[in-house]
Amino acid sequence: MKSATEIIHRGEGVNRNAAPLTTPIYETTTFVFDTAAEVQAYNEGKSPKFLYSRYSNPTVQAVEQTIAALELADTALLLSSGMAATATALLALVKSADEIVCSAAIYGGTLHLLADMLPDFGIITRFASLEELAAPERVLGDKTKVLWFESPINPTLRCVDVAAIAAACRRRHVISIIDNTFASPINQQPITMDVDIVMHSVTKYLNGHSDVTAGALAGPSSLMARVDKARRMLGTILDPSAAYAIGRGLKTLSVRVERHNANALAVARWLERDKRVAKVYYPGLESHPDHQLAKRQMRGFGGMVCVDLGGAQANAERFFDRLKVFKRAASLGGVESLCSLPVLTSQWGHTDAQLVKAGVTRSMARLSIGLEDADDLIADLDQALA
Ligand SMILES: Cc1ncc(COP(=O)(O)O)c(C=O)c1O
Repeated sequence: MKSATEIIHRGEGVNRNAAPLTTPIYETTTFVFDTAAEVQAYNEGKSPKFLYSRYSNPTVQAVEQTIAALELADTALLLSSGMAATATALLALVKSADEIVCSAAIYGGTLHLLADMLPDFGIITRFASLEELAAPERVLGDKTKVLWFESPINPTLRCVDVAAIAAACRRRHVISIIDNTFASPINQQPITMDVDIVMHSVTKYLNGHSDVTAGALAGPSSLMARVDKARRMLGTILDPSAAYAIGRGLKTLSVRVERHNANALAVARWLERDKRVAKVYYPGLESHPDHQLAKRQMRGFGGMVCVDLGGAQANAERFFDRLKVFKRAASLGGVESLCSLPVLTSQWGHTDAQLVKAGVTRSMARLSIGLEDADDLIADLDQALA
């Protein structure tokens, strides 16, 4: 054949002599079939082959299997961000005139999707306070199809009774979905408490290196088949290169989370003893209002700590500006320690009344405790408080 043809075809395709230890990045948009009968079998769901990377891809699927195993789910799906996971799940599972009940204390992006966008499509959304969620059956109405919640909650690390919420949903045939981002599956496995679907901003602990944006959903095959169908239509699947990076990050998840847990507990205990600090929020502290509940439903308390400097916002800003090892950034769950001020990030633009409802003050600073030496983190906090 001529050069133009050779350039395109020679050397491409599967190398049958290679048995890679790691799953390679299948950087291909489409997959080759030998016969029309093979395509037909694929269309009928009778073939394990791949057709098109917007539907599924071997690199993405390998990482999905890891996440399903971590969450003890039948199936997991990877999506292009945590918000893509949230939006795809909800568009798959509810229709016009259905109701979603959501915890009022929830990640800001989720709140905006439910409060500002889904109602335009005729979906009813209602927000329940932590007190209301303590009697979960009472927050579910006749039209409720999904209950969406988080535990621990950003930034106060308040926890809700996961098993009680899941049980109420099962009794009322409502699909329960938990955002398990803050805990990670190493610290909390909601499916063991009968939650239907677990969502993650994989951007955070699952990836762990602050360099990939991704989301995941894990749950029973019957529900995930509906979400998979929506993901195909919406085109919200994760890119194979990003999936490869996630798979690599996941291999160290258990050792990273162990260190996050230990460092965060050390930092929280140190902060709690310091008179310059008004209040420390960490579910692993005996002083946290949900410590007993957290002990029951979590294996570790995570890497997030919230500190209230007391007084005016300027107090938190002064502390924030003086940090040296902690970087001033909004995300969390990476190897590096970060600090954010909730009123300038997750709770930006909230009224005083909304802040009170979320339990957030203007003098709070949220710390994502990384994997550095705890002594260096404490020394940095000490000099920032000076
Ligand atoms: C608890 C929680 N859920 C969901 C999200 C959204 O995830 P992503 O930014 O990957 O879309 C975030 C992001 O900060 C989060 O903190």
